[in-house]
Amino acid sequence: MQELNGLNDNIAVLKQEILDGAEKLGSSKELYEFKKTYVDGKNGKVNQLMKEMRNIPADQKAAYGKSVNELKSWAQEFLGGLDEKMKKMELEKRYEAEQVDISMPAVKKIPGNLHPITQMRNQLIDVFAGMGFEIYEGSEVETDYYNFTALNTPQDHPARDMQDTFYLSPEFLLRTQTSAGQIHVMENRKPPIKILSPGKVFRSDDDATHSPMFSQMEGLVVDKGITLCDLQGMLDEFVKKIYGEGTRTRLRPSYFPFTEPSVEVDCSCFECGGKGCKLCKGTGWIEVLGAGVVNKKVLENCGIDSDVYSGFAFGIGIERTAMLKYGINNIKMLFESDLRVLKQLND
Ligand code: PHE
Repeated sequence: MQELNGLNDNIAVLKQEILDGAEKLGSSKELYEFKKTYVDGKNGKVNQLMKEMRNIPADQKAAYGKSVNELKSWAQEFLGGLDEKMKKMELEKRYEAEQVDISMPAVKKIPGNLHPITQMRNQLIDVFAGMGFEIYEGSEVETDYYNFTALNTPQDHPARDMQDTFYLSPEFLLRTQTSAGQIHVMENRKPPIKILSPGKVFRSDDDATHSPMFSQMEGLVVDKGITLCDLQGMLDEFVKKIYGEGTRTRLRPSYFPFTEPSVEVDCSCFECGGKGCKLCKGTGWIEVLGAGVVNKKVLENCGIDSDVYSGFAFGIGIERTAMLKYGINNIKMLFESDLRVLKQLND
């Protein structure tokens, strides 16, 4: 009987231990470990008490077992309730911490835009692609032959002075004009030819309207019976699409060694409609590109029979077109990557 009282004391001590221990628990995670130590599993301290059963006289086994079972269900209920309470509190704390302030102003998203030169290039491509032109992208490093000689500009030709050239060696140079691509195309294809060649070109030239690197868009059409009229008709379409429906063109005689006749193409001023303003310097006209009928010598240099075929070519300055369109007076603005400028130039 004495022994049984001792064992019953153990039950009371364990209960107190659980009560004291539970008070110190700081989280449901700690409670989980605590439950493992006391009630869960065979090795839980409460279940250990059952092992004492063999030391208990047969007539008292039932009473002892009942007390241990009572402790067990009490502990399960007590700790289960505590678990629920703790989890609820923890959830509330989490909600509190993760609360969203819906009155806070949203973070401003600043969408990017394509660089104005890329936009201009894409617009030009769109216009000419609609007329059936194909893109040909040549290389930026060229030989003297493709950039000059084959374009009817042999060594010592005075027209070489029109373009100050960056030579890499006596033979190689950075192309000064996308016209170099004309030769590659005509050497490799039979007419009809209708290509558009956008790309970077390089000249030792640097002021408010010139940069040592800039972009051009070359156009070349070669077929039977092509004349200057075809060029003008196509350019009329081009200026209307880029500068607006009311825009007209006019051709002025000019000189390029690879075209004969050569023309400078003006369009009526889209700012003042031709009356005369600051943009057109009071003339009512703005120069937009150089063009002409492909020189017979150039066709022959590429093995195309100039008695059968003829063609026209034109070269547009992309930066210049963008500057006119967006009213920029310094080409450097397009190359300085100043977001305050670039963000405003978005169509
Ligand atoms: N390549 C000439 C230039 O850069 C422009 C041009 C192209 C003129 C095609 C006529 C024909 O100035």
